[in-house]
Amino acid sequence: MYLWLHIILAVALIVLLVLDLRKTNGSLPIAMTIRGIYVVMIIDGIILLGKAWHRSPVLASAKVLFSLVVIGFIEVLMAKRARNQVTKSDFYRIAIELVLLIILGLFTAGFRPWIHLF
Ligand code: HEM
Repeated sequence: MYLWLHIILAVALIVLLVLDLRKTNGSLPIAMTIRGIYVVMIIDGIILLGKAWHRSPVLASAKVLFSLVVIGFIEVLMAKRARNQVTKSDFYRIAIELVLLIILGLFTAGFRPWIHLF
């Protein structure tokens, strides 16, 4: 259940981030919702960490550290967006970071829940 919450919040975060970055000057309500989403994801991630740590402490710690790096970069992007200074390379960088984070998350979770879904 906590893993599904994490997945749903990850999708919501990506959709809202795209909407926010596309707007000139961004949108304060969207930016605040994105911040609320990270807070819940951090709490949810810490709960998930308990089991993930027993499976692989290396992957689990890498996932947590990289998640915090990505959250930090999203904060930088939202600050830049408020000043309309987001460049194409920022956009590519966050896209690549999110793809790598999702792949790392899937490995950390041992491809759950997807392997049992189909
Ligand atoms: C930018 C925010 C984040 C995104 C987009 C994200 C995304 C993901 C994704 C896609 C997965 C794989 C889910 C699956 O199996 O389908 C995952 C797993 C995981 N994430 Fe995150 N995550 C984020 C933040 C965090 C944070 C802040 C923490 C910890 C404090 C965290 C801890 C974990 C852990 C421990 C797992 C493995 C879960 C398990 O073993 O069941 N994540 N994450």
